[in-house]
Amino acid sequence: LWQNVPLAPPDSIFKLTAAYKADPFENKVNLGVGAYRDDDNKPWVLPVVRKAEQILLNTPSLDHEYLPITGLPEFTAAAAKLILGPDSPAIAGGRVTTVQTISGTGANHLGALFLERFFPWSGNKEIYLSDPTWANHPAIFKNVGIVPRTYPYYDPKTIGLDFDGYMNALKTAPNNSIFLIHACAHNPTGVDPTREQWNEIAAVMLDKGHYGFFDCAYQGFASGNLDNDAWAVREFVKKGVNMLICQSFAKNAGLYGERVGALHVISSSKEAAERVKSQLSVLQRSEISNPPTYGARIVNLILNDAGLFEEWKRDIATMAGRIIDMRKQLYKVLTEELKTPGNWDHIVNQIGMFSFTGITPQQSQALVEKAHVYMTANGRISMTGLNRKNLGYFAESLDKAVRG
Ligand code: LMR
Repeated sequence: LWQNVPLAPPDSIFKLTAAYKADPFENKVNLGVGAYRDDDNKPWVLPVVRKAEQILLNTPSLDHEYLPITGLPEFTAAAAKLILGPDSPAIAGGRVTTVQTISGTGANHLGALFLERFFPWSGNKEIYLSDPTWANHPAIFKNVGIVPRTYPYYDPKTIGLDFDGYMNALKTAPNNSIFLIHACAHNPTGVDPTREQWNEIAAVMLDKGHYGFFDCAYQGFASGNLDNDAWAVREFVKKGVNMLICQSFAKNAGLYGERVGALHVISSSKEAAERVKSQLSVLQRSEISNPPTYGARIVNLILNDAGLFEEWKRDIATMAGRIIDMRKQLYKVLTEELKTPGNWDHIVNQIGMFSFTGITPQQSQALVEKAHVYMTANGRISMTGLNRKNLGYFAESLDKAVRG
């Protein structure tokens, strides 16, 4: 049996973590997976998360019963307010259906499955993904029978946004197409539209009747401010763009392995939202029965307690601030000390966890093979893998790779 099963390649991101762990080289650097590290290169359990865990431990009435199929109600309600805003008219009007999911990936999957079944398709089942996008996006849509297409996003010439290409794709796609949009801190490029550009994108989306499949994995990570990073999502909802939002608490609460997330589907009426909820419940039941409790309980405490919420915001600012600091230092070493050929402005202009360095696949390969610096072949580096101790070594290795 299974003689005909072809060997699949390892995952492009997680294979780097495995290779890094197996490498005995002392100065090895892991800039692969997007997972926050502190200045000692250690995973950081947010102090506010530790506090919430202590509260859970001291609550003997908590049991291990099943959650409702759509998740912990207090968590889902608070998660919707976090992304859509506390005064969201869509929430007030009962037009938002929120389902707790297996982090952002689960939200993407459930959203994709729901669209495959219920979106009013007029032609082929397709979704437009930014070029490039998170390596997992195409597989998630293919798995449910939706064909991934791409729209121009990144311009290698400017190491910035190909806004004209993006707008052209929105305008020329068939009416009522689905576009996957990174809500903030675009993965892998770290390049986001400006507010003016977002407004232009929204106007075309409305004009063409396009559907927005928003993926929000980094709220707080882009600017250090939760509301700023939710600006585009809230603006699109306000303008009436048809959309759903996938939300992850992996990065902003440092709860990677706990798989805490939510899918929010906006409907045009309360009645439609109730029908959507009924169908999402049917899909969720057959996929995972009901979501896990632990991480959702932690986030629930943080979102629903004013003191913990303020502390969380400070923890997020700590993480975002360290990343911004690493950007500035890397830029300084490359431009002032090493005088590395090329323009490195994008290092400080890009935002969020990742920076797209603009180096070639050969140069990335040289960094992995010669310098033991683990990074994806597309030139993406996870800024959180840099710290005061390894930044110099990385900058010198990058400088060597660029000079060839
Ligand atoms: C990444 O892009 O590195 C993260 O989102 C982790 C993942 O699941 O790929």
